[in-house]
Amino acid sequence: MNKIADIFTSLEYGPAPESADLALAWIDSHDGRFGHFIDGKWTKPGKGFATDNPATGKKLADLTNGSQSDVDAAVKAARGAFPKWSALSGYARAKYLYAIARLVQKHSRLFAVLESLDNGKPIRESRDVDIPLVARHFYHHAGWAQHLERGFPGHVPYGVCGQVIPWNFPLLMLAWKIAPALAAGNTVVLKPAEFTSLTALLFAEICDKAGLPKGVVNIVTGEGETGAAITEHKDVDKVAFTGSTEVGKIIRAATAGSGKGISLELGGKSPYIVFDDADLDSAIEGLVDAIWFNQGQVCCAGSRLLVQESIETRFLDKLKKRMATLRVGDPLDKAVDIGALVAPVQVARVTELVKQGVAEGGTLYEPDVDLPKSGCFLRPALITNVSPANTVASEEIFGPVLVEMSFRTPEEAVALANNTRYGLAATVWTENVNLALDIAPKLKAGVVWVNGTNNFDAAVGFGGYKESGFGREGGKEGMGAYLKPAWEKALKPAPAAKAVAAKPKNPLDGDAGIDRTAKMYIGGKQARPDSGYSRPVLGPDGSLVGEVGDGNRKDIRNAVEAARAAAGWATTTAHNRAQVLYYLAENLDYRAAEFAARIKAQTGEDGTAEVAASVERLFAFAGWADKYDGMVHNPPSRTVAVAMVEPLGVMGILAPPSRPLLGSIALIAPALAMGNTVVLVPSERAPLSVTDLYQVLETSDVPAGVLNIVTGDTATLAKTLAEHDGVDAVWAAANAEISTMVEKASAGNVKQTWTSRGLYYDLADKALFEGDYFLRRATQIKNVWVPYGA
Ligand code: NAI
Repeated sequence: MNKIADIFTSLEYGPAPESADLALAWIDSHDGRFGHFIDGKWTKPGKGFATDNPATGKKLADLTNGSQSDVDAAVKAARGAFPKWSALSGYARAKYLYAIARLVQKHSRLFAVLESLDNGKPIRESRDVDIPLVARHFYHHAGWAQHLERGFPGHVPYGVCGQVIPWNFPLLMLAWKIAPALAAGNTVVLKPAEFTSLTALLFAEICDKAGLPKGVVNIVTGEGETGAAITEHKDVDKVAFTGSTEVGKIIRAATAGSGKGISLELGGKSPYIVFDDADLDSAIEGLVDAIWFNQGQVCCAGSRLLVQESIETRFLDKLKKRMATLRVGDPLDKAVDIGALVAPVQVARVTELVKQGVAEGGTLYEPDVDLPKSGCFLRPALITNVSPANTVASEEIFGPVLVEMSFRTPEEAVALANNTRYGLAATVWTENVNLALDIAPKLKAGVVWVNGTNNFDAAVGFGGYKESGFGREGGKEGMGAYLKPAWEKALKPAPAAKAVAAKPKNPLDGDAGIDRTAKMYIGGKQARPDSGYSRPVLGPDGSLVGEVGDGNRKDIRNAVEAARAAAGWATTTAHNRAQVLYYLAENLDYRAAEFAARIKAQTGEDGTAEVAASVERLFAFAGWADKYDGMVHNPPSRTVAVAMVEPLGVMGILAPPSRPLLGSIALIAPALAMGNTVVLVPSERAPLSVTDLYQVLETSDVPAGVLNIVTGDTATLAKTLAEHDGVDAVWAAANAEISTMVEKASAGNVKQTWTSRGLYYDLADKALFEGDYFLRRATQIKNVWVPYGA
């Protein structure tokens, strides 16, 4: 008689193919040729390219390469549809989104098969993960459409959204972009990736069937140039991009100065950390999902395995055994684990990177599993013996390749995990809840999964830190990314700064008695400018009021170093930060008369009210420090996702020329309250109100390096800050030229920016600026998924 164990070892998977007939019939119903979907109609198919089935190499359909005039037409249609669509009630929009969700569910098998044919992903995944998540996204955002007023009072949609998506989750990325955009009242021009456009085109038909007004959703197919025509289009108000970090940087630079909203979901090299007390079987299964899900073509793939040294051998043995059971083959076979990569170019890219990893000393393991004779298939691969310097340990491979390193202590695990320019996701396996929750906050990543991996849900934000981009999709923060404050529309150009009288001709002019040149403030100490030069500060009548140091690149570098060293400010308690800000306010108030007089000397205007407003603003953000916090989401799984509000890190802040004191305080107070450390460049014209703060800072328990102040030429210092890789965000209350320069230079390490672009932000306005406007911009959300109720 058979023993159960025998049955388990001998039981063969039969082929369990899903039929492609319906999907092929749908393609045939379009004669295998597609135009764009613009203004509710199909355009005539034009010059373009073929889209193939990567599992067979066979052509599926011909697609049209969107030209500039196609994009113009799509943007025009979206613009035309915007007034009516945005004026609909939230309930009316909710009904459309709900109708789309229902139709996606109704045709889910067709979508799943078409997705697997076009992309190569196993039907198991498209059927059980991609398409259900698409439907879930539309359901979730139907709810948001109706509750916008309550969730986001005073906010309005951007207008026309230009959205460009990648090929790894074609329909899911479309849903992540289109659902919130429509819920908010925006209209959309979306370009799917050139390899995988078919489900987006099927989706266009679903929109038609749902009765969506024409022009609300427009789909334009094409390659990178078509994408650029969308993201750079003058009449596009908001750009949302998912794809490679390289293209994300191009888009950031190209949209600089345009005033467009922008969110970027970019690459990753996410750590998968296994501690010695982990449930190893679960950790292995998690790992299979982390790196072989979708052939590893996942931006948040757990592609860097970090295992505690004491279990390394045992864990790798188990892993290799499990790898040998993975089935690679026909994506439409329901018993297949790993399907085809998206295209031959991707196979070549992955193969090349693996070769390089081995040439640099890595050891490659590939199980001897069967591969189909042709098509874009690769075996699952594991590379061990790598150092952090190995290319495969730092570059995103975007294929079924896992890279392994070991660590000894939790501290070492964190250091290795964070040793990357990316910061999309991280996974932690341990049975020790204390350890897991100690590690999670230390990981620089937008998503952390504890004892699980690759969990996604519409109610939970997803997005990166560092060069993995900015902005979130999903969750309240993702919804907010498609809305802007209504008052921004009414902003007027900032009045031209009053001309400063010419510098005194003789550098010695004005010297009398003891030198009173204000120094820089770096690392809690007053520091002489590196240049050895000073700048005069003139009163309204051109007379010399004082002098400040003329800061340069070196001073900024020193200040950034000091700010980085003060990172402990982020983890000191919010209560502590509040205490420090209250104390600062108190000490400033104590010297109010002196500060008011200094404002008058520089501007000719009575400074009493400005000083009082500055004190009040410090109070306001001291009050916020322990209140602007996160949420707990309940995704439809046995988990909770804890949305933690975290600081951005080191912020460069360029104060506006007007309001010598409040202009700086209004910007640094929210930044500091949220745990950022700051390099502040005060008003170029009237910096003495800020340099006078040094003594106040010293008496207010502000830790060294938390606030650093460099005086000098705004444009020069702004450039250095925006180009500096050690700076995580730059805020510039500056003219259009400096703002554009800051945004362009910020692309280097994908900094977050806020710029005033020559517009007048009345920072004295408490209703607008005493609350979440700057708090939101000073923070990023990390979603920590934790098993709950299991
Ligand atoms: P890609 O970033 O070039 O393509 C993504 C999308 O951007 C596509 O729709 C493409 O047509 C469009 N695009 C390309 N250039 C553009 C431009 N200048 N302006 C606007 N849109 C533009 O990614 P690609 O070339 O398909 O893949 C290359 C590598 O990028 C992959 O091997 C992988 O490492 C990485 N990648 C990462 C993704 C992620 O989600 N993290 C997604 C796709 C690719």
